[in-house]
Amino acid sequence: MMQHAHPAPHAPALDAATAEVLDGLHAPRKRLPCKLLYDAAGAQLFERICELDEYYPTRHELALLETHLPEIAARVGPRARVIEPGSGSGRKTQRLLAALARPAVYVPIDVSGEQLEETATELRRAFPGLDVRPLCADYTSLDFAAGPHDEGRTLVFFPGSTIGNFEPDQARAFLARLGQLAGPRATLLLGADANTDPETLVPAYDDREGVTSAFDLNLLAHVNRRFAGTFDLAAFQHRAVWNAARSRVEMHLVSLRRQAVTVAGQRIDFARGEPIVTEHCYKHPPGALAALIAAAGWRVRETFADERGWMRLWLAER
Ligand code: AVI
Repeated sequence: MMQHAHPAPHAPALDAATAEVLDGLHAPRKRLPCKLLYDAAGAQLFERICELDEYYPTRHELALLETHLPEIAARVGPRARVIEPGSGSGRKTQRLLAALARPAVYVPIDVSGEQLEETATELRRAFPGLDVRPLCADYTSLDFAAGPHDEGRTLVFFPGSTIGNFEPDQARAFLARLGQLAGPRATLLLGADANTDPETLVPAYDDREGVTSAFDLNLLAHVNRRFAGTFDLAAFQHRAVWNAARSRVEMHLVSLRRQAVTVAGQRIDFARGEPIVTEHCYKHPPGALAALIAAAGWRVRETFADERGWMRLWLAER
């Protein structure tokens, strides 16, 4: 397969985001960063995914939260500061904040500035005594500490099985960084999916209505807009693959024909049937996730699982 040569030495330096996209597209196994799934249209499509019958993680996690919030709130105690990386629509957060005893501060962190503002406005209205401090940032590259919070504990809320979208090494490093970010007296509330049954996983990531397909293809529209791409969305097809050896669902966009695409001035050649990997969704078995959490410097205090042992909430402390 022909790969386009890397830019000539005299070419202007690429910004980091463009370099990441081009590196992925020039790799032997083509890939695009899954964070590009979440432009404004992608964030809305993801909200629709969470409502789908086939996509059980959101529903199961909400039910778990409803059941176990009193125990969680008792552990966290009063006047907590809640930090939520990738806060999105904040639906689960409302439930959490309502259950905590007089929460003091809420720090939602998200790349989507619009959604962040909407969530902040809604939460300020719903919790007048709460100090809401939105932070518009890519939460995967945070490298600062949130500073002391003397009134109570700091709770890092990371639901939705988003930890599964990190490669395992990155997941450990990320959880460790969350610990540093939160500082002492920190609690972690993590939601993760451990289902490994392809009969339910493949439809969860390739639903009948085609919402996940639209979500995946929208990534190409995002690349076209932001990185001067020429992807023809009709020339790619979404598919979800269960990779049992790696315990992950993979989202692929498969080229329906032999074609060439330009991105940021560089030509990328596709063979017919060649995939671009757009997302890995790891389904860590509970033992493996427990080890990962511990290796990141957290001590697991409790876990709460759904009936089938798929979705699980992990409560850990530093
Ligand atoms: C955000 N993340 C946890 C979702 C997942 O299940 O890995 C993203 C997603 N991709 C397709 N459907 C949902």
